[in-house]
Amino acid sequence: MRHWYDQAIIYQIYPKSFQDSNNDGIGDLNGIRKRIPYLKELGINAVWLNPIFVSPQVDNGYDVSNYFAIDPKMGTMEDMDNLIKEMHEAGIHVIMDFVLNHTSDQHPWFQDAIKNPESIYRDYYIFAGENNQRPNNWGSFFGGSVWEKDPAGTGQFYFHLFDKRMPDLNWKNPEVRHAMTEIAKYWLEKGIDGLRLDAFIHIAKADLRQNFPVNSKDEEPVIAEPFFANLPQVQKWMRLFCEEIKQDYPDALLLGEAASANVNLAVDYTNQDNHLMDSVITFRYFTEDQSKIDPSFLSNYQPKPLDWVKFKQNQTIWQQTLSGISKPTLYWNNHDMARLATRIAKNDIQARSLAMLMYLQCGIPIIYYGEELGMKNLQFEDINDFKDDTVKEFVTSAEKAGKTSKEALLMASKTHKLPARGPMPWDNERNNGFTEKEPWIKGRKLDKVNVADEIADDSSMFNFYKKLISLKKEQLFQEGNYYLWPTSNGSYVYERNLKDKKALIAVSLSQEPIELEVGKEFSSERLAAGEYDLTAGKLRLEPYAGVVLEN
Ligand code: NOJ
Repeated sequence: MRHWYDQAIIYQIYPKSFQDSNNDGIGDLNGIRKRIPYLKELGINAVWLNPIFVSPQVDNGYDVSNYFAIDPKMGTMEDMDNLIKEMHEAGIHVIMDFVLNHTSDQHPWFQDAIKNPESIYRDYYIFAGENNQRPNNWGSFFGGSVWEKDPAGTGQFYFHLFDKRMPDLNWKNPEVRHAMTEIAKYWLEKGIDGLRLDAFIHIAKADLRQNFPVNSKDEEPVIAEPFFANLPQVQKWMRLFCEEIKQDYPDALLLGEAASANVNLAVDYTNQDNHLMDSVITFRYFTEDQSKIDPSFLSNYQPKPLDWVKFKQNQTIWQQTLSGISKPTLYWNNHDMARLATRIAKNDIQARSLAMLMYLQCGIPIIYYGEELGMKNLQFEDINDFKDDTVKEFVTSAEKAGKTSKEALLMASKTHKLPARGPMPWDNERNNGFTEKEPWIKGRKLDKVNVADEIADDSSMFNFYKKLISLKKEQLFQEGNYYLWPTSNGSYVYERNLKDKKALIAVSLSQEPIELEVGKEFSSERLAAGEYDLTAGKLRLEPYAGVVLEN
């Protein structure tokens, strides 16, 4: 069966930062509606909205306190209905972020569970331990232990993989599974076209009585991923969920966030015979080169270059292994990592050639808002703006190693996820047309890009992305075979072919000009980033340049 998402080109919108329509400094649904013509102009055919449910915003919406309503800061249900309708009129599908591993501690289920130990909702969450003794040494992704004292004073603890105000749901409980399936159906019934399944790989946990074995006598909690990621029951429980959804909504895209899944797990999660998801987002693409780390202070927010050889390996492995099974997702950045133009691309030319490299491969592009303009991370000048204790620890350790706090903040601004969530710049007016009030997120804009200027300039990044997206829609780039050429480390060259049609995507990763023998077959240019020369089958690419050639 053919699905709309076979041809999906997704644009990720961080609603809080896209467009503010009521001047409270926070982006909202009516702001997004206003910008539908822009999305149409860009040429994408789906948007993924980060969470917009009612939330105390401890984790910017990933802490949901009511799944059946829109957060009032973002708008109303009527706004959402209008947004879905207008997106569809513009030929754009709507994918919602669906947070299923945990809720907010303000969710009525959790509130009841802690107010009333006899509550049926107690078993909606994971309570364990006794006499104020933590059940195990497992650590949370957001720092500290996964266990937080039961506020009811029972001497037990509740489990949270993320912030302590985000308790994990107990998926062992069939009522939880049923409730989450009903919520998903409620939104699909409203007309949305897909769900991004947030952190689904964590819904099953190993036997809670076990400590994660560690070498030291250290009492510090440890991130015990093998005990709470990708366990076999994840597939069992997700299968019930996915099958039920697909039964009623066969055309709904189920896009799993599988951060730590390797390619073999991705096969399991997306193989049609397994009745699970259609595609997954892995975080395994971007292996960093650890050799440049300064050992005298914490490494977590030190900028690290991409290991290009590993990157090439990773890409080929995912391309080849998923071939004929499912489409990989193709992306350079998202709300959980620094932006492409900050993290990897050395300049505007490289940002373009890397986009070309990534998105013309086999798979579903996910373009992060503002990427199409060349937007960079913000620069945070106040440590408190990160709202993250791990940044405080990083700055303290850098200072001890002789760095100034300014230098340390600069590093964190280049690597932390929050500065990648800056306001979308629409024009040259106040706050770049995002809001007339102070934006919810503070930070210095380090680039000069904005939509109005770029639309008007034929040679802009925006117009480059527009051409790239339109190229991606061609059958060759949707269905063609993929084959990586055996070239040197300074380049990334692959072929797509379909019957007698062929394209060669040749990208330089080098700061020096490079030459490649491409043969006379590839003679016509479809898209170029930077300067190149093609004479008698010899391709010369200027630093970081890239070109798409066809036969
Ligand atoms: C993954 C999301 O992308 C991230 O932003 C969030 O903090 C966690 N899941 C928890 O929901």
